[in-house]
Amino acid sequence: MLNVALPKGRLGEKVYSMLSESGYSCREMEEDSRKLTFENKERGVRYFWVKPSDVGIYVERGAADVGVLGKDILVEYMPDVYELLDLGIGKCRMCVAAKKDFRDNTEKTLRVATKFPKTAMDYYSGIDRDIDIIKLNGSIEIAPLLGLADVIVDIVETGKTLKENNLEVKKEIMDISARFICNKVSYQFKNEEVKKMENALKQRIVQ
Ligand code: PRP
Repeated sequence: MLNVALPKGRLGEKVYSMLSESGYSCREMEEDSRKLTFENKERGVRYFWVKPSDVGIYVERGAADVGVLGKDILVEYMPDVYELLDLGIGKCRMCVAAKKDFRDNTEKTLRVATKFPKTAMDYYSGIDRDIDIIKLNGSIEIAPLLGLADVIVDIVETGKTLKENNLEVKKEIMDISARFICNKVSYQFKNEEVKKMENALKQRIVQ
């Protein structure tokens, strides 16, 4: 059995369709249910739906052999796994954003609201800027509007959330897309199955 951790949500659904088109389908998964694990015994595959930010933990610890997660999560949590493939989907950018009229006063510590404290810290230490991290878990865009933070470090996909909240991108930090990752031990001991799935996904990548 190859255990596959998929991120709950739109990205996970897309990856599941790529896999199911390659023969790794699991009929039960296509039904409307609250179940979180599914298996297709004949095809030797078991899927888990997990929180996107937890995929790396499942794969690093071997609870899942392989998984899919955004590069943003890989960079932030740095799980000890192999990154096998860029799936070319779930594309977005990690950005610094702020109110349109924001001007940085370098004499003051910059207050940065984010779900990605390590990424934000690495970026600002790279440009030698003192910051105060305000770790939030969602709806980050509200922070500058309420005066909780000066800027945010967050994911921008269509830019709609920023626009509708009168914020704008001030700096792009990195491009993001979904990655296929593998547990280091499974890569050795289940190499054939892992490679098969990797190749199946590779053929579904739209350039
Ligand atoms: C992400 C991100 C932005 C939004 C960007 O939030 O944190 O808020 O998507 O997308 P857009 O550029 O297409 O508008 P998510 O939907 O994950 O919700 P969250 O804020 O609760 O984390």
